[in-house]
Amino acid sequence: MNHKLPGPNAIRIINTMKKYVYDSTFIYPLVIANGHDCIIEDPDGNKFLDFTSNIGACPIGYSHPDVMEVLAEYSTNGTHKIAGQDFYSKEHADLAETISTILPQNFKTFFTNSGAEAVENAIKIAYRRMGPLPGISCFGAFHGRTLGALNFTFSNPVHKYNFPELPVKRIKFCTKDDDPEIDVTESLLKENKIAFILTETIQGEGGYYVASKKFIKNLRKCATQYGVPLILDEVQSGIGHTGKWWAFEHYGVTPDIISAAKALQVGATIYNKKLEPSNKSALSSTWGGGNRIDMAIGMRTIQVIKRDKLLENATKMGTMLMKGLHELVGKNGVTDVRGLGLMIGLEFDTRTRRDKKLTKLFRNGLLTLGAGHKSMRIIPPLVITRDQIERGLAIMNQVLSRN
Ligand SMILES: Cc1ncc(COP(=O)(O)O)c(C=O)c1O
Repeated sequence: MNHKLPGPNAIRIINTMKKYVYDSTFIYPLVIANGHDCIIEDPDGNKFLDFTSNIGACPIGYSHPDVMEVLAEYSTNGTHKIAGQDFYSKEHADLAETISTILPQNFKTFFTNSGAEAVENAIKIAYRRMGPLPGISCFGAFHGRTLGALNFTFSNPVHKYNFPELPVKRIKFCTKDDDPEIDVTESLLKENKIAFILTETIQGEGGYYVASKKFIKNLRKCATQYGVPLILDEVQSGIGHTGKWWAFEHYGVTPDIISAAKALQVGATIYNKKLEPSNKSALSSTWGGGNRIDMAIGMRTIQVIKRDKLLENATKMGTMLMKGLHELVGKNGVTDVRGLGLMIGLEFDTRTRRDKKLTKLFRNGLLTLGAGHKSMRIIPPLVITRDQIERGLAIMNQVLSRN
């Protein structure tokens, strides 16, 4: 660290934002100025090891040579942002084709700007097919904060204050195969007409809880039996963080619709062709499929993950990280650790302690984030190395072993 945190340049920026910008989910005073590999730099020259990958949105870290090459290619192209559902572009074609190489057969893609839009378009596809019926979603779920997606989100009461809800049937997100509520969905489907089942396989914002295998397999079985589309939300877990392209691959199921975003650089609603809306222009968006640089980087990201075998790296580094974090459980308020690959949640006894530790880790040069009520989320870029994991664990040990 070069300066006391935050340094003078960071303070100026934060103060301007405090004056002009809504105070959203900012946690500690990190101002991002630049980054290389898994290191983020603030405007005062302080460097931080990044165990957040910006909530999974930067899977190949920062200033990756392949990404810098794409940025250089587009530095002289002034049509970088276009009405992407009104006009065709090579980047749109290339990204859609590249995604198809990591999908089950017979899936097509509709691009959007954000994860919430990816979820909402998934829901729209289901409503078109099934009618304006209730959707099933889980307690603790997070599917975005826009008005449509928010109906099915349930991770934080502050999101839904005075909110008028669309019809929804809520089920428990079961993390254990022997959960007594694991079969509730079947009776719900027997007794009600339902438009879709929507869930994450690892609850992200809800606290990094991993669904039980039987729970997800059950949802798939019930969805098929009752002819209801199964939407799996992979906005946070998709494109490699769990050590597979999609978290649902850990469960041996194929959804009917997938929502993706973050690591892909753009939002995407990915659907089985049998659910494609029959009318043209039922789905559209000005910038959806129109951020040509983002789409080019999204495609390059998938190529880099394949070429550099980063799924294998995520699995290996995730195992190493999980092993190190297990040693912290039972000490100084750390009560549990769980996750898949490089998507790991560390549970604390209280929210206050969790928040204090997040800030202390930041002050010691390690970036992590909160999730759920009292979990810490750890989701490093897929390019993380053994040395960086060791360094991160050393900082965690040092910070978490003190009260
Ligand atoms: C699982 C999941 N779905 C949807 C969203 C919403 O994505 P966005 O913030 O891009 O709208 C998120 C964001 O964290 C997410 O984790």
